[in-house]
Amino acid sequence: MAGTTSVSGSANRFVYLIAGVCALGGLLFGYDIGVISGALLFIREDLALSPFLQSVVVSGLLVGAVVGALVGGPLSDRYGRRRTVMLAALIFVLGAIGAGLSPSVGALIAFRFVLGLGVGLASLIVPLYISEVSPANVRGGLVSLNQLMITIGILAAYLVNFALAESEAWRWMLGLAAIPAVILGVGMFFLPETPRWLVSKNLTERARSVLRRTRGEERVDEELADIERVESQEEEGLDELRAPWVRPALIVGVGLAIFQQITGINTIIYYAPTILEETGFGASASILATVGVGVVNVLLTVVAIWLVDRVGRRPLLLFGIIGMIVSLILLGLAFILPALSGVVGILATVCLMLYVASFAVSLGPVFWLLISEIYPLKIRGSAMSVATIANWASNFVVALTFLSLVQLLGQTATFWLYALVSIGAWFFVYFLVPETKGRSLEKIEDDLRNNVVTT
Ligand code: BGC
Repeated sequence: MAGTTSVSGSANRFVYLIAGVCALGGLLFGYDIGVISGALLFIREDLALSPFLQSVVVSGLLVGAVVGALVGGPLSDRYGRRRTVMLAALIFVLGAIGAGLSPSVGALIAFRFVLGLGVGLASLIVPLYISEVSPANVRGGLVSLNQLMITIGILAAYLVNFALAESEAWRWMLGLAAIPAVILGVGMFFLPETPRWLVSKNLTERARSVLRRTRGEERVDEELADIERVESQEEEGLDELRAPWVRPALIVGVGLAIFQQITGINTIIYYAPTILEETGFGASASILATVGVGVVNVLLTVVAIWLVDRVGRRPLLLFGIIGMIVSLILLGLAFILPALSGVVGILATVCLMLYVASFAVSLGPVFWLLISEIYPLKIRGSAMSVATIANWASNFVVALTFLSLVQLLGQTATFWLYALVSIGAWFFVYFLVPETKGRSLEKIEDDLRNNVVTT
């Protein structure tokens, strides 16, 4: 049936360049969430921060990210994906320079919020932009470049913190992020709008020319016709967001968003040194082990990129979440072992690495990928907003409650609680999450509309 074929041309080099430049948004996302744990040690001395103000400096970014995610989708549906990336870049530049120069704690909190706006915007728009410019057969890998850059950003932040710790240069730690932000903004200036957004605004000829630049010549007309056909079936405005046929996709997006966070990843990203010090490791051993965890995160994301268009999204999720469950159970066990010198720390480090590795091949990249794939064109940005808000709000709740949970329940029970939640995540994926590998965005939309089950 012509209407439901999966039309997608092959990629050319330009697509890889586009994805690479845009994924700098992911680098900034990762750097800005990773940098604060180390910088805080010096900020609190310099600006005499109480524990409460410290947590406001940290979580101000998360609140900003919720707001960024809220406005990002509608902005991108209305003004375009490319302009929204450029806006994120501008906000990153202002936020980084402002935070680096902050004369007072008030200013610092305000600029952390501004940075959060950029992070929230980028977290949504980068996968969306890349997904819409990519041909189906390599879309998973290209969109997951974003997650790779997030993990590289986190690692870069750990390393910059480490390098600048001696000189206590927290202003540089925060301000350095302006450099990739400028490159992102300038780079986007030379890149095109996505063909799909152009069709949604009836700019068909421009869409055709973007497809020509990003595909082999052969199938441009077919792909364009398919985008136009799907677009013409959609209602105007945001009504589609409430349409019954879209509901399963909304449940999948929001569910995965919440599970990505409440299975505990950011307890490790934000607090790994604290967790490891509890095992008897000294400060420098803890920081070094944390860098190791960051490296594992990057490497296993590369593996995910390699696998995601080959084995598909669902196998990665189902396999990776089992790894998360097992490592969380073992991590909990490590904390009830009698503190034999060093052994518990090493055991805990291995569990942390196993856990992060499992996340990096599954919920890490695949959540952001799926939410860029499963929604209908006209409301894609707005629907992604809903999922992304759920993600940042859950991130905020976990960051806020983790240390209290540990105090209340102890480490063992806390990690076992995350293990239990991860079991819930596994069943959620097993029963509800569709496979999107190899299908064009238009085919995915057709199947959603016709209630075709694709697991
Ligand atoms: C998550 C972040 C997390 C990061 C770790 C991302 O996919 O959304 O919350 O910090 O992965 O690599």
